Amino acid sequence: MILLCASCNSPDADRGIRVGFSQAMSSDNWRREMEKSMQIQSSLYPDIDLEIKNANNDVETQIKQIQDFVESKVDVLIVSPIKSMPVTNAIENATKSGIPTIIIDRNIDGTNYTAYIGADNIEIGKDAAKYILSGLKQRATVVQITGDIASSPAKERQQGFEAVLSKSDKVDLIATINGDWEKPSLISPLEKLLDSVTPNYIFAHNDRMAMGVWEVLKSRKLENDVKIIGVDGLYGPNGGIQYVKDDILLATILYPTGGAEAIDLAVKIVRGELVKKNNTLNTVVIDSVNVDLMQNQFNKLVEQQNDIKGQQLVIDQQLKEYQSQNTLIKLMIGLLVLLLALALWSIYSGIKISRSKRKLELINERIKTQRNQIKKFAKQLKASNESKINFFTALSHEFKTPLTLITSSVETILEQNKTLADRSSFEINLIHNNSKRLRRLINELLDFRKLESDSFSLKPQKVDVVEILQQLINDFKLEAVKHSVRLREKYPKSPCYLWIDINAIDKVFFNVLSNALKFTPANGKIEVTVEELDECVKIYIKDSGIGIPMEDIENIFDPFTQATNNQRPSSGLGLYVAKQFVELHKGTIEIHLQNGTEFVITIPKGKGHFKDLVVQSEGVKHLRTTSGMNQDIKIETPQKLPIETNEQLPNLFIIEDNIDLCFLLRKQLQDGFNIYLSDGIDAFQEALELVPDIVICDLNLPEISGFDIAKKIKEDLRTSHIPVIVLTALSDEESYLKALNAGADFYMTKPFQMESLRQALRTMLYNRERLRYYYTNKLDSVVHSDFNKEQQDFIKKMNSLVIDNLTNPDFSVEELAKALHISRVQLYRKTKAILGVSVSDYMNEIRLERAKELLMDNTLSIAEIAYEVGFSSPGYFSTAFKNKYGISPNRYRS
Ligand code: FRU
Repeated sequence: MILLCASCNSPDADRGIRVGFSQAMSSDNWRREMEKSMQIQSSLYPDIDLEIKNANNDVETQIKQIQDFVESKVDVLIVSPIKSMPVTNAIENATKSGIPTIIIDRNIDGTNYTAYIGADNIEIGKDAAKYILSGLKQRATVVQITGDIASSPAKERQQGFEAVLSKSDKVDLIATINGDWEKPSLISPLEKLLDSVTPNYIFAHNDRMAMGVWEVLKSRKLENDVKIIGVDGLYGPNGGIQYVKDDILLATILYPTGGAEAIDLAVKIVRGELVKKNNTLNTVVIDSVNVDLMQNQFNKLVEQQNDIKGQQLVIDQQLKEYQSQNTLIKLMIGLLVLLLALALWSIYSGIKISRSKRKLELINERIKTQRNQIKKFAKQLKASNESKINFFTALSHEFKTPLTLITSSVETILEQNKTLADRSSFEINLIHNNSKRLRRLINELLDFRKLESDSFSLKPQKVDVVEILQQLINDFKLEAVKHSVRLREKYPKSPCYLWIDINAIDKVFFNVLSNALKFTPANGKIEVTVEELDECVKIYIKDSGIGIPMEDIENIFDPFTQATNNQRPSSGLGLYVAKQFVELHKGTIEIHLQNGTEFVITIPKGKGHFKDLVVQSEGVKHLRTTSGMNQDIKIETPQKLPIETNEQLPNLFIIEDNIDLCFLLRKQLQDGFNIYLSDGIDAFQEALELVPDIVICDLNLPEISGFDIAKKIKEDLRTSHIPVIVLTALSDEESYLKALNAGADFYMTKPFQMESLRQALRTMLYNRERLRYYYTNKLDSVVHSDFNKEQQDFIKKMNSLVIDNLTNPDFSVEELAKALHISRVQLYRKTKAILGVSVSDYMNEIRLERAKELLMDNTLSIAEIAYEVGFSSPGYFSTAFKNKYGISPNRYRS
């Protein structure tokens, strides 16, 4: 960059030698010639910077110019003074200030300047006088016309001229006219003089005034009578040399301008060379004798000057080129340096960047490793957390079965031993109450887990909320009496239907009621009010208890929160779960404190707010039962087969790996069923052999899942008609759907009410019976909305065709399809869709039902019955009968 700047044009570099020249005036050719020669000479020095200022013959201007040059600190000051005295001070001051000063042509009054250059004007005056004298043949008269007498040349020329003339007696200086170097100054004095006398010679101090003299003489036709001598001897059309050639002037004395010499002198001074103080220029008289020679010399001089000018132009051109190339080179060098610097910089930056990059990479690597570690830890943590939660959930699920067993057993004991001694009864009640409480806590925990993982899905159905409340409060009444708490209920007169998930809302009411009971002291009261509004139903549960401290109100619905005044043990989840359940129903639960605590539960009416849920069909009634058990429970290993079979009873096949539960189920259900047990391992094979009337199947089994068993049963034609009830601890939506997909007819979760299971079994079997009822063509007497008119007609027609052809063993499915005017496949699909069984199963069913009737009557032998109902052989009939009813025709008849 420094080099680059050096290549720029700095003012100092451009200045070189600054020469300031104050010219007296520029109005005449002599002065212009002086300036021209100065410029030509300066051009020979490339480092000279010449500045010419024209003072216009004004002394004040000239003084100002001198001061300006001094101030701008020129290297050399050249002055051609207008007048001697007035500018003396200015020039001497300039010299004193350290600026070298050169006086040219006209001199000053003092001596404090560096150098003077010019011709010797005394000599010029003398030469003029001598020239006149040299040509005299007789006495003559002379007139002198001076320049401005205040300027040194005029003074000195006069001095020299008069000095020589005074020594001669041949000449009379008859008059001296004081001019000012220019024509006009002489005209009138000369005219006046000529009026009285005509001189022989007139000496004018310069050629311009000499020409003026000639013009005046010419106007008087005296030009040939008077000889004129001038000074300057300029070359050119209006110069003294030409005037001599034209015989206007007798002679002129060469007065060199000294311009070129002044520049040389200035250069020498600046370079520190020694120069003379007085530098006198040579003069010569030019007359007709030497005028041609002089002109030739001047011609050559001009030619040389022109050559020099031409060369100067070329030099200037080359100089310009050189300068531009120089600038270009400097620029290129600058650029190169810049490039180099940039290259170095980029190498340096590259190294720096690569170091930083490496550092960053290392940091990045470290961060990555740390992130991976964190991820790994998080994963491990999640997995461990997940496994803990899963373990906890699984464990909670596992608690359910033993708890069911305990509560069911205790309920049975209580039921059967009402007469037990008080002590035992108290202890059994204790077991009962605490096992119920344990079960509730587990359910609360499982509900909490489901709510937390957003996996709880509502199963809303239309129910009378008052009925639910009444049933629940019934359970609470005994407890209330024990605590001497009055329970008051206020319900609307008509039923109050709401779309709710019974299980969830039941828990809401239970939690709020038990909370109220917990905090109501003896002789207090609890009021339950149901209010039906246009859009919603409000349930108020108000107690006169100790209330909840104000500071606890805000967090009372948060999980694991207990009121600070509540020292009783609790999971802290009850109210949280209650609030979540109410909100799942788009309802609200609020708490008010006023002489106790009041909970207000608001549930919207209708089912429009359950947008994404599939709600169950209307009219499903809430079933809430208290478990009553009559059987005596003994701890024993359950047998796989029924102890004793009763052929009147349906066969129930229970697939369950929990021995206790098997035992309990058998005990509880053996009154109504022949019970067959399986731990699941060969369940399907056993089902094939047994062909039971109904199946209860657990899902989590040791070797095969309950889903697969249900699926196999439902996919095999031999067992597909058997209703399957899934009884499982898995209460999630996914398992429920999976079981239904596998073909399960009913899904029941543990812990369960035995009575509910009994009811489910009854319903399933009733449906089967109802189907059989259709098979035996009693369709008209059964009105069921599930079968429409078209379906009823179809079944009726099919029944009559089968019954009409009952004895015909060749009446196949194809024959039946043909008679119904549909394809075999269509018949199969239609029958399956309407009745849920295949055509051949359906035909066999009718045949076997008919066979059953015939077997009751002893008229026909078993072989005859076989043919009568369309079997091709008695053996095949016996197998089919046994497969269907689990008993041979023979045994059935006996
Ligand atoms: C030019 C001039 C010359 C004369 C000189 C004297 O201005 O008048 O004609 O010789 O000045 O200083």
